Amino acid sequence: MVADARAFAAAGVEIVGDALARSPEPRVCFATGETPKPLYAALVAAQANGTIDLKRIRAWLLDEYFPMTASNPRSFRAFMHAHLFDPIGLAAGRVDSLDGSAGDPDAECARYEASISGAGGFDLCFLGIGLNGHIAFNESGSGAATRARRVVLSERTRRANAHEFPSLDAVPREALTVGVGTILERSRSIVLMARGSNKAEVLARTLFEAETDALPASHLQGFRGTFTVLADEAAAALIPNL
Ligand code: F6R
Repeated sequence: MVADARAFAAAGVEIVGDALARSPEPRVCFATGETPKPLYAALVAAQANGTIDLKRIRAWLLDEYFPMTASNPRSFRAFMHAHLFDPIGLAAGRVDSLDGSAGDPDAECARYEASISGAGGFDLCFLGIGLNGHIAFNESGSGAATRARRVVLSERTRRANAHEFPSLDAVPREALTVGVGTILERSRSIVLMARGSNKAEVLARTLFEAETDALPASHLQGFRGTFTVLADEAAAALIPNL
């Protein structure tokens, strides 16, 4: 557990630094959203002052709205370029993401799975968590073996993300996402990030309740790699004995 956003970001930078120390070209999967913003700002600062060389990473994204063009400023792809990839000067060829404008979304999901497995999977995968326990856009009902696919977003998820759009109605109703199985089987190391008191209950349930498709994040209990929970005090409030 870390005290605040600043410590959260510093701990995340250290984790990325470790990955860079272990590999000349670490493969990292990134989450979008409010939670990782302080981390991405700190990574940009670390790159600017020369502490780390993020240009060596290869990057993937967890998910994308559907339909959505990459050039739309509300796309997850645009979010990552704005908050991390462009400020660190990451070459475009080092980034892959699900194409929310694909004419054949099933083929696009298959392509993405092949991109991830062909590269050897993720050395490091950053996840946020939804209020309903989603990871990436794997909503309630998503099993531990699910793969990249087209999904319907829950009303709760659309409401949580509505602040990025002119109205709730404008929030896409579907998305393309890596599966829970993609995350569990293709990651060597997972960092589950949570900030703020509104995530306290879902984080505690994720870690301590029985694993269930109803709470997809609980499938992380079955992950066999290195698992880190990066939570601030407010999000970790219901975790005993910290
Ligand atoms: C984003 C993603 C989602 C978010 C989750 C939490 O790429 O896959 O699972 O991580 O919805 O979002 P925030 O951080 O905005 O609370």
